[in-house]
Amino acid sequence: MSESVNQVNSISTTQTTVHEKLDALVQRYQKAENLRPVSEHTRAAFDQANQWLGNWSGDIIIDSCCGVGESTARLGAANSQAKVIGLDKSQARLDKHAHYAGESENYAVFRADVIDFWRLIRQHQWRIQQHYLLYPNPYPKPSQVQKRWHGSAAFADLMAMTPNITVRSNWLVYLLEFAQATKHYGVTGNVQQVSDNEAFTPFERKYLASGQTCWELVCRAEEES
Ligand SMILES: C[S@@+](CC[C@H](N)C(=O)[O-])C[C@H]1O[C@@H](n2cnc3c(N)ncnc32)[C@H](O)[C@@H]1O
Repeated sequence: MSESVNQVNSISTTQTTVHEKLDALVQRYQKAENLRPVSEHTRAAFDQANQWLGNWSGDIIIDSCCGVGESTARLGAANSQAKVIGLDKSQARLDKHAHYAGESENYAVFRADVIDFWRLIRQHQWRIQQHYLLYPNPYPKPSQVQKRWHGSAAFADLMAMTPNITVRSNWLVYLLEFAQATKHYGVTGNVQQVSDNEAFTPFERKYLASGQTCWELVCRAEEES
């Protein structure tokens, strides 16, 4: 599980704090019905994933935007009680998975658009124990806020899957925004610096090798008082 080290630039943006329109966007999409049709290739991937799960009724862990699937293999090895599904839209990245493959058979990676896959998970009421979103594209320009997962229409489907969400990023503001957005769904989160000895994903490896700080947000349902 290794990749040659590339130096990568740190986040460059004029946005230094939570976007002023975030709350309004989250509330708008929370109420809206998502009418976007599901793509055929993601429906086929969902069917394949269903077949792979078979009659499994235990825990399911989703690793969205898994890239080459290194984290999916790691999550499979660390969670022998669960089935772990990695999703990425890039066939080129998934084609490199063999290099990062793990030995456990409780995980699989599928090419899919997570926007549609999340909706199908919601419609089919899969029981998701944990959702990982590791180093999603940050879209750091202020004008790109709606491209970030928490500012997009897909957030309602994401939040319907499970409150147990782990997000990592090298842009702290992304995680502060994500945590603020989850509060609209009765979910709270804590942000901490990633302090693992070993990188969990190729992007994390690149950021750490470039001297950047990586951050982790862990979300859970708010406890009822
Ligand atoms: C910055 S990379 C992170 C990859 C991996 N998690 C890592 O840390 O090495 C972001 C990934 O998100 C994927 N991605 C972006 N939008 C997606 C979408 N709508 N559906 C599925 N994957 C998507 C990209 O293909 C890319 O592999």
